[in-house]
Amino acid sequence: PAPGGNPTTDPLDRVRVDAAGQRLTTNQGVPVADNQHSLKIGLRGPTAMEDFILREKLTHFDHERIPERVVHARGSAAHGYFECYRELGALTRAAPFAQAGKRTPLFTRFSTVAGERGSADTVRDVRGFAVKFYTEEGNWDLVGNNIPVFFIQDAMKFPDLVHAVKTEPHHGMPQASSAHDTFWDFVSLMPESTHMLLWQMSDRAIPRSYRTMQGFGVHTFRLVNAAGESQFCKFHWTPMQGTHSLVWDEAAKLTGADADFHRRDLWEAIEAGQFPEWELGLQVFSEEQAASFAFDVLDPTKLVPEELVPLLPVGKMVLNRNPDNFFAETEQVAFCTAHIVPGIDFSNDPLLQGRIHSYLDTQISRLGGANFHEIPINSPIAPVQNNQRDGMHRQALNRGRVNYEPNSLGGGCPFQAGAAGFTSFPERVAEDKVRGSAELFADHYSQARLFYESQSAVEQNHIAAAFRFELTRVQTPAVRARVVAALANVHPVLAGAVAAGLGIEIPPPLPLATDRPMPEYAPSPALSLFSR
Ligand code: HEM
Repeated sequence: PAPGGNPTTDPLDRVRVDAAGQRLTTNQGVPVADNQHSLKIGLRGPTAMEDFILREKLTHFDHERIPERVVHARGSAAHGYFECYRELGALTRAAPFAQAGKRTPLFTRFSTVAGERGSADTVRDVRGFAVKFYTEEGNWDLVGNNIPVFFIQDAMKFPDLVHAVKTEPHHGMPQASSAHDTFWDFVSLMPESTHMLLWQMSDRAIPRSYRTMQGFGVHTFRLVNAAGESQFCKFHWTPMQGTHSLVWDEAAKLTGADADFHRRDLWEAIEAGQFPEWELGLQVFSEEQAASFAFDVLDPTKLVPEELVPLLPVGKMVLNRNPDNFFAETEQVAFCTAHIVPGIDFSNDPLLQGRIHSYLDTQISRLGGANFHEIPINSPIAPVQNNQRDGMHRQALNRGRVNYEPNSLGGGCPFQAGAAGFTSFPERVAEDKVRGSAELFADHYSQARLFYESQSAVEQNHIAAAFRFELTRVQTPAVRARVVAALANVHPVLAGAVAAGLGIEIPPPLPLATDRPMPEYAPSPALSLFSR
């Protein structure tokens, strides 16, 4: 690290290639005399099998594509840094918060969720907001969305959700839209998705720009300080450019006129020196406070209202450099919720717990084997030293005789770091092993209503109009009716507006689960650490 604790190493320096003005070679470094003509037996004869130059060129081309991400396939990214406003040692030992003014390099990728890699940017969809912090204690990935809650409460349901969201399997349509029967069929049978559905039908799902989106870690995480004390935490990114959306007519026209609208906007702003910035805010609360809330903080379909736990601004992210190479960086970057560093830990949110498995697992096939952490955009600035060896595309040239532990022959083998290393928070858990969900997970509507009522009249009209538009494209009447029945549990005005637009009666509301009022909020002792 440079003075002030600011890491300066750019992992990409090692692999940047600028070949302008250099001689053309094969992949073996052999200079190529003629890059226009294959080797033929006579000018009008067959091509010679021995033309290794042609064969190498075609073979490489034939293998240029890798699988797209199973979700979030379409995205755009940029480099930048996180600057800490204040030292947060009382709350967390995480390296980015070690010192006021400290800068941590990062790479951020924004994405749509449902569409394919070539789909349009301005469709109605959730947006991914994934940040990779390259800290001196390893990479920390905050893999979030622009909406603070999620459709489902348990990782067990994710493959079904995504199968319903993506193109219908028999005809591969629609490419990037929530306007189809399978999506609405699924969510109408999954009342826990109601809160997120309201956000998705709101203007939040058609952002004006990636630069004008909020970002949320969604799950409850833990912060852990050097003494091993822990608080719960929610992460929020707030755009300094303001939070702005398109209106639906603009979004629909842009989808036809410029499929790259958001990609172009981010790229051009950075090229022009208009570096976008987001403030990182934390909602910090204790386990005791969490136990007093009317909702379960392990339920990712719920947010923690800022009236209950205010947002503490702790630093800002600045995106100030476009990638050199879209494929090498934006496409090959591998974010993973399992990438945490000392000072951050998981909660038992059952959606988060499943995510911890899925990202590394999918990347083994997407990026070809177990060594994709060596791809420069993924490789930490912290040294990587362990006994893992071999596998496809291994780059590291690990030296020495010993690659096992314990050993008495190794000499220079890495040693485990003990208390200086990552230590899981020793949460006490003594429960029966069961399938099911906690009682408060059954409240599906009170926060949906809270969100609807927090919107202005114009925004409420947009939500009703979006439900109407999307549902008129659903062909199965029973599916439409089920969605309106769920809305009747949220708000009679909303359900009435959507039902009228569809020309149907409001069906009887779905049976209500628990629907409790919010308790009074007592500020956490940790909050007094902050004056701002
Ligand atoms: C991407 C799984 C829930 C945000 C992905 C990918 C998978 C996945 C397999 C593709 C990764 C890759 O190919 O590199 C899951 C599972 C979930 C879940 C199993 C639930 C159990 C969520 C939630 C959020 C989220 C709740 C937001 C908080 C993202 C983002 C990306 C992504 C932002 C794109 C990362 C990038 O830009 O490369 N997810 N996901 N996912 N997921 Fe999830």
